[in-house]
Amino acid sequence: MEKLQVAIEKARSQRQKAGNPRPATEPVVKPVKPTDESLRERWKDLTQIDVPESALSRNRLVASADGPAAGPFDMLRTRILQQARSREWKRVALVSPHSACGKSTAAANLAFSFGRQSDLRTIVLDLDLRRSGLRKILSQHCQHTMADVLRGDVPFSKHAQRLGENVALGLNGSTVRNAAEVLQSTKAGEVLDSLQAGFEPDLMLFDMPPLMEVDDNFGFLGNVDCALLLIEAERTTIDQIDVAERQLSELTNVMGVVLNKAHYTEGAYGYGY
Ligand SMILES: Nc1ncnc2c1ncn2[C@@H]1O[C@H](COP(=O)(O)OP(=O)(O)OP(=O)(O)O)[C@@H](O)[C@H]1O
Ligand SMILES: [Mg+2]
Repeated sequence: MEKLQVAIEKARSQRQKAGNPRPATEPVVKPVKPTDESLRERWKDLTQIDVPESALSRNRLVASADGPAAGPFDMLRTRILQQARSREWKRVALVSPHSACGKSTAAANLAFSFGRQSDLRTIVLDLDLRRSGLRKILSQHCQHTMADVLRGDVPFSKHAQRLGENVALGLNGSTVRNAAEVLQSTKAGEVLDSLQAGFEPDLMLFDMPPLMEVDDNFGFLGNVDCALLLIEAERTTIDQIDVAERQLSELTNVMGVVLNKAHYTEGAYGYGY
């Protein structure tokens, strides 16, 4: 217990060093690093999942296997990683101005891309608690939701599902009604700190609901280091991008903007990919 508290404090102070404005609420204690072996065991103990072939093609999981089709997501992974490392950011929210820009599809593809980065541990959480989108895209079942985890009712170690060796997923087995209240609770922030301390991910990705449609993001984004704004080609308007960027910049750092569903990418990734 004491070890966990120590690790939580370490995670918090690292995040504050990275420029996050969230204040510390717990006493400072001397950091103790868990042994590599116990960390490895904790990851190994997570339930491993397989994504069925049928879901890979049906749900545009183009990054599930290494190759040209995975190129754009591998490129996005690398750009995220470069920025995160240079700024010591560890928590990245995927947001969009309106729905259906492709956040959950991107989160699922990035889970595969980060999985190929075998020297990294990545956690991908579906915090669009109203839709269970990521679980459906990956064609999984689970008993609980991330709301159960964020309320402290179910430990992440019991709920999480492991994709390959080094990616842990937090999905939603059903939809949650009071999503905004759960996401903006103090408890949710504490649970994220303990999860970060217990699993030591190099990166945490959060699949969020759309900014314009619900208030869930506004209460939660103080818990992340930055947000990546996904927009949809031929649908998202300049005004929507402008408003979203302004709203985001009041809540967290804006890592960048990703144009999704663009038709004209031929040659953009070099070597004819
Ligand atoms: N790059 C892409 N090209 C074409 N279609 C895409 C692309 N990315 C996602 N889609 C499709 O767009 C639809 C919405 O995708 P997705 O559910 O990932 O969006 P979302 O932003 O998570 O939506 P929501 O805000 O409702 O959670 C899906 O049918 C998905 O297959
Ligand atoms: Mg979604």
